[in-house]
Amino acid sequence: MTDAEAAAALSAGHLVILPTETVYGLAADAGNAKAVAAIFEAKGRPRFNPLIAHVADLAGAEAIAVFDERARALADAFWPGPLTIVAPVRDRERVCDLARAGLDSVAVRVPGHPRARAVLSAFGGPVVAPSANRSGRPSPTTFEDALEETGFAASAAIDGGPCAVGVESTVVSVLDGRVALLRPGSVTRDQIEALVGPLEQDGEGHRSPGRTALHYAPDAPVRINADRAGEGEILLGFGPGVGDPRWSLSPTGDLREAAANLFRMLREADREKPVGIAVSPIPAQGLGEAINDRLKRAAGFVG
Ligand code: TXA
Ligand code: MG
Repeated sequence: MTDAEAAAALSAGHLVILPTETVYGLAADAGNAKAVAAIFEAKGRPRFNPLIAHVADLAGAEAIAVFDERARALADAFWPGPLTIVAPVRDRERVCDLARAGLDSVAVRVPGHPRARAVLSAFGGPVVAPSANRSGRPSPTTFEDALEETGFAASAAIDGGPCAVGVESTVVSVLDGRVALLRPGSVTRDQIEALVGPLEQDGEGHRSPGRTALHYAPDAPVRINADRAGEGEILLGFGPGVGDPRWSLSPTGDLREAAANLFRMLREADREKPVGIAVSPIPAQGLGEAINDRLKRAAGFVG
């Protein structure tokens, strides 16, 4: 499947499995309500949960969203890359109502994966792409996992290899001159604050409709901050000498490696049909915030 063929499939209203550096997405033309509806259908996603519009560059972003100075500073610093910016919507047709779940804001991101960028450039407009999992399940970080989750709904699929980052993009809202962190990711809180100053604490007025409904959950129950595996459990370890090396998120205790392995290992462990999946404590700092966020949700502590 070439980039031009994938872009043509999008133009024809089809869904495409699209690799990004974070996780695989299930993509559609953001302005085609029928195609967007097919995404919600394939994922079993609640219609109140809006999608991210992916564009090729900052000009593409500003064509659909209204960026203030701080949004532009964030885009300059982190695009292309794993950051999504929620800003007031400018073009309500190119990102249809259904894609935005009727909101006056739109989430925009310029992904860094070369194949995603090539498809977006060839397509020439915004492409919505939620993670290619069925709603509530861990996001796919390999081509095979993406096909297994929602391949049935796509008429085209691009194999971009394993995702380098492994957790979904950081989502920040920049609305009314205030910046809030809606979803932690590999662009960290500290990196964002260094650029735009302190983030809103409560995120008041900045809500991410999907967050409470998310779970990232495998079938087996997940137990976090575990010292050791219980009877019949698989322990996903972190750090030197912790558990079975086959199931280590990172034997050296490297957060980047752990993030890249997280969803794939949850899926692999799940295939063994264990009594449960235990996970070692992960440090809270930096990228650890995003990993712990996903683990807490997988364990059912949020939402
Ligand atoms: O890394 C990623 O962001 C991946 C890849 C494929 O780009 N995509 C992804 O999309 O994770 P999804 O749909 O699984 O997550 C999008 C998140 C949801 O939590 C959604 O509620 C939030 O972004 N969101 C989208 N539009 C929003 C808006 N206008 N206001 C607040 N939150 C929004
Ligand atoms: Mg998702």
